[in-house]
Amino acid sequence: MRNDAVDAALLPRESFAQRLLTGSAKKSYDPVVDIDWNAPLDPDKLFLPPEVISLFGTPQWEAMAPQQRRELSRQELANVLSVGIWFENLLNRLLLRELMNGDPTSRHSHYTLTEMGDECRHMMMFGKLLDRIEARPYWPNRYERLVISSLQLFLRGSMVWVGALVGEEIFDAIQRRTLDDPELQPVVARAMRIHVTEEARHIGFARDALARRTPTMSHAELAYTKLCVAVAAPLFVHLMTNWHMYVRAGLDDPRALRHVARENPHAQRTLGAGAANLGAFLDKQGLIGPIGKRIWRRRGLL
Ligand SMILES: [Fe+2]
Ligand SMILES: [Fe+2]
Repeated sequence: MRNDAVDAALLPRESFAQRLLTGSAKKSYDPVVDIDWNAPLDPDKLFLPPEVISLFGTPQWEAMAPQQRRELSRQELANVLSVGIWFENLLNRLLLRELMNGDPTSRHSHYTLTEMGDECRHMMMFGKLLDRIEARPYWPNRYERLVISSLQLFLRGSMVWVGALVGEEIFDAIQRRTLDDPELQPVVARAMRIHVTEEARHIGFARDALARRTPTMSHAELAYTKLCVAVAAPLFVHLMTNWHMYVRAGLDDPRALRHVARENPHAQRTLGAGAANLGAFLDKQGLIGPIGKRIWRRRGLL
């Protein structure tokens, strides 16, 4: 009886959260048992589709032997997985804090908890995948860890959702390219399929929360949000062109290669395609200012 009364009074925000809860109950994964971790790696297949690799299409890429390309794809995947783990770690901290400001009986809080559970399993999946592909994580040093931890002081209110979207949507669009690629390592394709399925709900949740909040923002919050959106783009490109990847792949002059990767029109096009939907959404919400647009365009993200 009580539940019926609550359902009848559901707010639109609550209905949306309920839909996500129902979707999660129907389709969620446990990567420990839903991935065949004992399947052998294919000695010839890449770990990422070539067009997603930072140096793809450059003269340096053309000059590489197939095994060198394979090693670079392994290191680039390891970098993506590592960034994914610490990003989800930070996101869970933010979500846990938000829960203290909400009603623990609401569907919104319950879906927040469900998302945190998803992210815990993703962090484990990424960690297991790093191990399976025989790579070491790219882990932030002490200084970088301090910066990452201090981000939770600045990411408040709407910024939680902007941060979530920048981290989730661009990665998501890139991961979607890996789904049905027969040339890719099967274990990677499977993990990406699981991640994309669960992240689609997270992205919907973050977009919904941000769209509800935007009309209520003060001028100060709007300005602060625009600033954070603007700096998110170069930060994202910086993380994706970590020069240590080139060191571990055994390539010469890794810092010069990072520069080549940043200026690589193919890589910019891939990132731009990944960021297009998010850019359009943020723009529609009025969250990218003129400076932000210039920065996003310069990095190939708009
Ligand atoms: Fe995730
Ligand atoms: Fe997520």
